[in-house]
Amino acid sequence: MNLDLPILAPSILAANFSKLGEEITTCTNSGIHWIHCDIMDGHFVPNISYGPSIVKSVRDTAPEAFLDVHLMIEKPDNFIENFADAGADLISVHHETCPHLHRTIQNIKMNGCMAGVVINPATSVDLLRPILQDIDLALIMSVNPGFGGQAFIESSIQKVEYLAQIRNELNLSFLIEIDGGVGKSNIAKLSEAGTDVLVAGSSVFKTDDISARIAELTKLAKLGAGKLA
Ligand code: DX5
Ligand code: ZN
Repeated sequence: MNLDLPILAPSILAANFSKLGEEITTCTNSGIHWIHCDIMDGHFVPNISYGPSIVKSVRDTAPEAFLDVHLMIEKPDNFIENFADAGADLISVHHETCPHLHRTIQNIKMNGCMAGVVINPATSVDLLRPILQDIDLALIMSVNPGFGGQAFIESSIQKVEYLAQIRNELNLSFLIEIDGGVGKSNIAKLSEAGTDVLVAGSSVFKTDDISARIAELTKLAKLGAGKLA
């Protein structure tokens, strides 16, 4: 895959669900390629969001988009095939939900998707070490998962820097993604720290002009990464 990094990945959790298709089209018309889908089960996290049928609708609305599906659910293996069939390009599972993480990663790949692993704010980056060579993406949660609109946990920046350092040492190429509380005040710092994929929910959708906000966030992310003068 030829990627133009850093990538801004709007999380549709913060979208207006009564005009989801319209808001997704606004995103794709504004240069967005990745769409982040948050799946919550009311068990692993204290909230319920949506399931494969919505992911399928996103796929139908944006056939060219890259669908980044973040599973915040217990026993994710039971649903990997459903999300792959719905059109996911990449499926990420939480380290905290997978006693047989390597098997789960193989399961995601067998279903034709790229594979990611997510860690909660209180989970150590070092726990990712044994699986790093098998994954396409590592996602660092910068809020406790379950809700949009929460405050960014500052120590997440050090986790990104540390993970980028490990990636460099091991000469690996997985993407580093961050999720939660990302917005105008911190996006440049995050891309400077080594983040490749920046998930943003409220900061993209909770505004009167989604397109202008996407342009602003993308510019700041590129500035942080040293890709704009
Ligand atoms: C949190 C989700 C996030 C969330 C981000 O559990 O994984 O993707 O939607 O929302 P904001 O950007 O509003 O923090
Ligand atoms: Zn997410």
